[in-house]
Order: sequence, then C-alpha cells, then structure tokens
Amino acid sequence: MIAPSILSADFARLADEINAVGGEPGKRADWLHVDVMDAHFVPNLTLGLPVVESILKTTEIPIDCHLMIENPDRWAIGYAEAGAHNVTVHAEAAADPIAIAKDLRAAGAKAGLSIKPGTDLDDYLEVLKHYDTLLVMSVEPGFGGQKFMSEVLPKARKARELVDTGHLKLLVEIDGGINADTIEQAAESGVDCFVAGSAVYNAEDPAKAVQALRDQAAP
Ligand code: DX5
Ligand code: ZN
Repeated sequence: MIAPSILSADFARLADEINAVGGEPGKRADWLHVDVMDAHFVPNLTLGLPVVESILKTTEIPIDCHLMIENPDRWAIGYAEAGAHNVTVHAEAAADPIAIAKDLRAAGAKAGLSIKPGTDLDDYLEVLKHYDTLLVMSVEPGFGGQKFMSEVLPKARKARELVDTGHLKLLVEIDGGINADTIEQAAESGVDCFVAGSAVYNAEDPAKAVQALRDQAAP
C-alpha cells in the first residue's frame, strides 16, 4: 500500500493535489496520509480537524491521520468521529494508549500507534495487541523531505515476525524518507504500507510516482 502524505502538497490547491493521486481503487493511492502537527509534540504546525473534515468531503481515498500532537487522549477521537479510516497517535505522547485504541475503534476507525526512531518497540508489545496499525517513523517527526533512517528497519522486521507468527494482528506502516532509493529495503523488512510525501508530491506526475513506488515495493 502507498499512502501519499499531503505535507508536501500545495495547501492552496489541496483538492487538486488530492485528486492527482485519486482515481479508481487499485490505481489510486491506497490511503491519503494527513500529518497533523501542533507545534508542541513536534516543532512544526500544520492543520487540524476542520481541514481534515473538508478533506473527507473531497475524496473517496481512505484518510490516514497521523497525529503528531500532545494529549492525543483528548483529541484523537474527533478524527475518528469525523470519519478518518485510520487514526494514529504517538506512543510517546499518549497517557493511556489502550484507552485511546478502544475509543478509536468504538468510533469506527482503525487505531494506529506510532513510534519515533528512538522509541523501543519492545516497550509497546502489550499495548499493540489493541491496535490495528503500527507506524514506524524512519525520520524524526516534524518535517517532510528528511533522510531515511535505515536503523529503524529492525523494528519493522520484528513487528512483521510478530504478525506472521500470530502474536500481533497489525498492519506495518513506515513514514519518512521513503522514495525510489529506500522503498525496497523497507519492503524487504516486511512493511505493508509506505508513506511518501516529497517522493510523490515533488514528482512531475504524482499518480505515476505512486504507481512506480508500488511496483518497486511489490515487484
Ligand atoms: C514527517 C511526516 C511525514 C512526512 C514524510 O513528520 O510524518 O508523513 O510527510 O515526508 P517525506 O516522505 O518527504 O519524508
Ligand atoms: Zn506522517
């Protein structure tokens, strides 16, 4: 699965930029990744629930909300209630991640847990039993266009093994620095879903970039 991140899109032309990776299921982006940043959990500021609500009205692509915010215990539920398909909170920010997952699922969304590059997967194995998605950050969250950190791949590989052996039931997603040079090593580590911001939206043809990444990930 390929999930273009609109962080690298032109926000003044957001509907056009989203439609550029739209189209028929199977040809379009699998998920649309929306980075919510609050200038507290990360140094950058992007957009919040009102913009996500408008995005939900403008596309059929399932929305993947990546909440890089403090106090997701309070704020994550709104994104699920608005209709986001997958809502991911940061393990480092969540006071009660199991309660968050239960709330998100009760609101009809998939629950995602993200871990920063320096965060140990092993600390969250019990918590992850309540989650549908694990988002492994392969850059420090906050900005698009950063260099891929291959040192996080053992965490993706370990998650893949836990899924394949039936210990966890998760989709493994990776975010940060995914492009034509890095997607193959991520795919070899067992990642299911690849977020790509600059590699899609800085390309001349975003739809072609999505297809090229997909072909590379699953040759
Ligand atoms: C970074 C965001 C990413 C970002 C990825 O904190 O979570 O989703 O858009 O951008 P690229 O693909 O350019 O690294
Ligand atoms: Zn993201």
